[in-house]
Amino acid sequence: MGVTVKWLGHSTFALDVDGHPVLFDPYLTNNPLAAAAADELDAEMICVSHAHGDHTGDVISIAKRTNALVICNFEMANYFEAKGVKHTHGMNPGGKHSFEFATLKWTIAHHSSSFPDGTYGGQPNGFVFMAHESGKNIYFAGDTSLFLDMQLIGKMGIDLAMLPIGDNFTMGPEDSLEAIGYVRPKYVMPMHYNTWEPIAQDGGAWANQVSNETSATPIVLDPGGTFTLE
Ligand code: NI
Ligand code: MN
Repeated sequence: MGVTVKWLGHSTFALDVDGHPVLFDPYLTNNPLAAAAADELDAEMICVSHAHGDHTGDVISIAKRTNALVICNFEMANYFEAKGVKHTHGMNPGGKHSFEFATLKWTIAHHSSSFPDGTYGGQPNGFVFMAHESGKNIYFAGDTSLFLDMQLIGKMGIDLAMLPIGDNFTMGPEDSLEAIGYVRPKYVMPMHYNTWEPIAQDGGAWANQVSNETSATPIVLDPGGTFTLE
């Protein structure tokens, strides 16, 4: 058992967590980098950081088809329930909850969070995903700027951090190096880049900087690529 992470482009990840399928921020339809179609993905749990369409685009269709539990902030949980999603679990920053095969701790993010139809989506968030069986801790930062409180997240002992590096809407490569210093993960994976021109970045150059200037090991995947935490 263990945790395998597949990057599907943008901030969308499909994980196998000790045998359980999990999705982070599923956005496949209209995602220029999508390495899978929404209707071919399995999920028992879907974790969603904030309400923007490039993070929630396929949540409802996948949740309805798979009956997955959708974990997100309180306002988003209400929204998804109103749209016919049966199983949701609302959280807010600082809160931790134990689920069947993982514990989640909800964290702050500095960004905005409204649904594409204009509905208020609560505060944007990130989360720490703690797999019960394999004991692996993954920090998914969501869309955020750099913030000093990432030092507190680092105290939790992070095996893998998923950080945005696209710049413009979130932190860019330079700030992500500072973030790595705060979070101190064993491995770090970039996300939220190269989807569109305003967030175009050189993943290879970023990886070289991470290797040279931080203690973390960079994992730069092509869309569809996988990495196993052992
Ligand atoms: Ni966003
Ligand atoms: Mn985004």
